[in-house]
Amino acid sequence: MIYNMSCIEGSQQHLEDESVDLIITDPPYNLGYGGTGFRKVKKEGFGTFANDELSDREYRRFTTDWLREAYRVLKPGRHIYVCIDWRKYPLMFWLMQHVGFTIKNCIVWDKIHMGMGWQYRFQHEFVIFAVKDVVKRRRAPQQIIAPVKAGSPAAKNRRVSSRSLTDVWKVPKLSSNKMIHPTEKPVDLITPMILQSSQEGEMVVDFFVGSGPVYEAAVKNGRIFKGFEVSPHHCQSAMNRIQP
Ligand SMILES: C[S@@+](CC[C@H](N)C(=O)[O-])C[C@H]1O[C@@H](n2cnc3c(N)ncnc32)[C@H](O)[C@@H]1O
Repeated sequence: MIYNMSCIEGSQQHLEDESVDLIITDPPYNLGYGGTGFRKVKKEGFGTFANDELSDREYRRFTTDWLREAYRVLKPGRHIYVCIDWRKYPLMFWLMQHVGFTIKNCIVWDKIHMGMGWQYRFQHEFVIFAVKDVVKRRRAPQQIIAPVKAGSPAAKNRRVSSRSLTDVWKVPKLSSNKMIHPTEKPVDLITPMILQSSQEGEMVVDFFVGSGPVYEAAVKNGRIFKGFEVSPHHCQSAMNRIQP
């Protein structure tokens, strides 16, 4: 299910408290992507996308609002993965903690091939990996401030299923002539997150669907998917990934 609407209203309307097993999302980085190199690309949908050219203050408010929704809907003990690049990493790290998530690690996506940029061309992005703690603690580890909610399905935090994966993932970026979204992530980057942090039949949510790699990886691995995308064009591209 992909809703062609803003994730904040969409989540308020369509997602119950603590109903989601896993969130994987790639928000606007507020770098005006369509506004830089991609302005020259003639493909449909390669202009600037929503919420990617806000003032710093608006971006902080927008990011806080959707992160609060993400925190509300995620089940205790379950994981969230948020894509971000080095320029917005400090802000996203801080805001994720601010809304209540516990950051567990930062995955470095090594794209193998270099991209744009000068004075060292870009070849990596980050994926912040965090959990909604079952038991929220203050700095002193023994001080529990939010015990498990009565009736909560999770008694303890989920762990990733494999202990042998590292936090550097080498996954080739898509070649620009194959891309259908200006910041498209490869399905091969998303699939390990789905397999490591959810089980078949569980609910995976993406707040910023774009061209739908999370949708594809989730459905192809037997997960239930819900997502939000404001652009009708990108919404359609995402839905085209899976033929009924
Ligand atoms: C960084 S891109 C996601 C790209 C996606 N991961 C992919 O691989 O195609 C962010 C997307 O979020 C959408 N977007 C921006 N603001 C939104 C909002 N409030 N609710 C839902 N989608 C939004 C944009 O249209 C854009 O497609």
